[in-house]
Amino acid sequence: MSTLHPVSPEFAARARVDKAAYERDYAESVRDPEGFWRRIGQRLDWTRPYTKVKDVSFDVDDFRIRWYEDGQLNLAANCLDRHLAARGDKTAIVWEGDDPNESRRISYRELHAEVCKAANLLTNLGVKKGDRVAIYLPMIPEAAVAMLACARIGAVHTVVFGGFSPDSLAGRIADSQCKLVITADEGLRGGKKVALKINVDEALQRPGTNSVETVLVVKRTGGAVAMQAPRDRWWSALMDGQKAEHEPVAVGAEDPLFILYTSGSTGKPKGVLHSTGGYLVYASYTHECVFDLREDDVYWCTADVGWVTGHSYLLYGPLANGATTLMFEGVPNYPDSSRFWQVVDKHQVTLFYTAPTAIRALMREGEAPVKKASRASLRLLGSVGEPINPEAWEWYWRVVGDGRCPIVDTWWQTETGGILITPLPGAIDQKPGSATLPFFGVKPAIVDAAGAILDGATEGNLVITDSWPGQMRTVYGDHQRFIDTYFKTYPGMYFTGDGARRDADGYYWITGRVDDVINVSGHRLGTAEVESALVAHPKVAEAAVVGCPHDIKGQGIYAYVTLKAGETPSEELRKELVAWVRKEIGPIASPDFLQWASGLPKTRSGKIMRRILRKIAENAPDQLGDTSTLADPGVVQNLVDERLAR
Ligand code: WT7
Repeated sequence: MSTLHPVSPEFAARARVDKAAYERDYAESVRDPEGFWRRIGQRLDWTRPYTKVKDVSFDVDDFRIRWYEDGQLNLAANCLDRHLAARGDKTAIVWEGDDPNESRRISYRELHAEVCKAANLLTNLGVKKGDRVAIYLPMIPEAAVAMLACARIGAVHTVVFGGFSPDSLAGRIADSQCKLVITADEGLRGGKKVALKINVDEALQRPGTNSVETVLVVKRTGGAVAMQAPRDRWWSALMDGQKAEHEPVAVGAEDPLFILYTSGSTGKPKGVLHSTGGYLVYASYTHECVFDLREDDVYWCTADVGWVTGHSYLLYGPLANGATTLMFEGVPNYPDSSRFWQVVDKHQVTLFYTAPTAIRALMREGEAPVKKASRASLRLLGSVGEPINPEAWEWYWRVVGDGRCPIVDTWWQTETGGILITPLPGAIDQKPGSATLPFFGVKPAIVDAAGAILDGATEGNLVITDSWPGQMRTVYGDHQRFIDTYFKTYPGMYFTGDGARRDADGYYWITGRVDDVINVSGHRLGTAEVESALVAHPKVAEAAVVGCPHDIKGQGIYAYVTLKAGETPSEELRKELVAWVRKEIGPIASPDFLQWASGLPKTRSGKIMRRILRKIAENAPDQLGDTSTLADPGVVQNLVDERLAR
């Protein structure tokens, strides 16, 4: 089924890492991680050089993860100041607006000046090292300026995706006790306005959000917003008065850089905390090697800054490397489905990084929209966020890349900070659908249910047996939850939550989540979150949510809902519940399918057997397996009979 795509000799000849270098350096990196990362850490400017490199124990009773512990640095200085001498006039950010007639180029010197002003502004508003700042912005340059300004003063940002609801925003603000929120009047995507400021106003009425003293509002659309004095201030009015010089605050390598909330298998989203030094070493080094970065590249990652990809590979990795990074405000199908490729031609993009869900959606539109653009500038393509099916891989390679661009299928997670398993484009032959081999210093393994490490060609659960510098350090405010979630299932190892297969060549094939997390269009959601949104509706007694296969999204959301006694199912109520979840969490969580269930399959101890619900949603009622432990096996037949026709 899978055709081998060998590294092309022309690409390998010019590549940063070829096969021999990969094999040699990988062997060194796992034999002597201390020595390897001591050397790689030098790529950054440290205001106080580190003497220690790695201090790690995954033992739950003696747990620690520390990298470059005694070093000090400033992230913004590494992304900006140190480039000024040689790259001051080089474009740091190419901004492409939602409207194809709107774009801007921002040089390293200009970005530096803006970030200095914003750092002074935040300081004048009382934001200090260690304070938390929520960023709820569209894909506009101010998002980059805000993030870098926080890093410059040692404040901890938590970026919240603009598609999240007021409740989701409130939950994140309350959990991290933010002092300040940076938002915009409205966002603009695909010609439609997104009511950001109104959402902030609503969020700040929720309990637990009193920590917020100031809301800075960037004017994007000029739409009418209510400014509440003295809390709400216009960003541009305050920026105007700031000095364009600022002395970056040196922080410890292990000081926190950002918190990013992500869904887990239980409860509310957790605040994944990343620290500064190791994270930036890892993000910048992976970015350089995986994308085979050269000085004149124009690099475009289509991810939103609200996700980890937008942190590590839209901003921090590329800027630390002095690269030109493209930030796109819009969507792939506006004004039409040729937009990505028009932007590639317009800005002469050389490296392009997107998600399988976008590729599948564009594939459905046929080849014509792609062929309308030349794409001659492209030299490498990347994929991230979910498994890419071989059919989409081949289409991406043949149609988008005209058969001449290698594809890097990069596997990683919010928790890992950077890419862990990926082909290096000049070193590793690609197999469509496989993330291939580990990056330098990464030690993956496959374990069985009991935690025994399996050798050779095999399948099981994916773990990482040693640390890498970009690893998350804690769950914000709940260190025990961090240890329990990731290091207890298989003692002494980091458990990824993913299943994987390893073939005879040692290549990894990620098979998807093995926990109650689903991946919808590359967005991660906990089934428990959607369930708790559903049961919060006054008419709902019980709900169970599972993932189901979806042609475009990878996984869709399939919800089983039991109504309270006296309530009757109707098409109207179905729509109301879908809209309810949308409002509670955000549009990405809208159930694709909602089936009424008179009862849910439960064990005698009351546990819902999701395995069965998944099979029904997959339309595989012949694979239900053993149902004898159910309290009432009859409910299963009802669910199968009433299954939604899809
Ligand atoms: C989950 C992490 C990585 C940044 C964006 C998503 C899935 C991610 C791949 C890939 C197969 C992938 C995994 C992982 N995933 N990349 N190349 N192949 N699966 O970050 O929201 O933290 O989600 O996304 O299931 O655990 P995230």
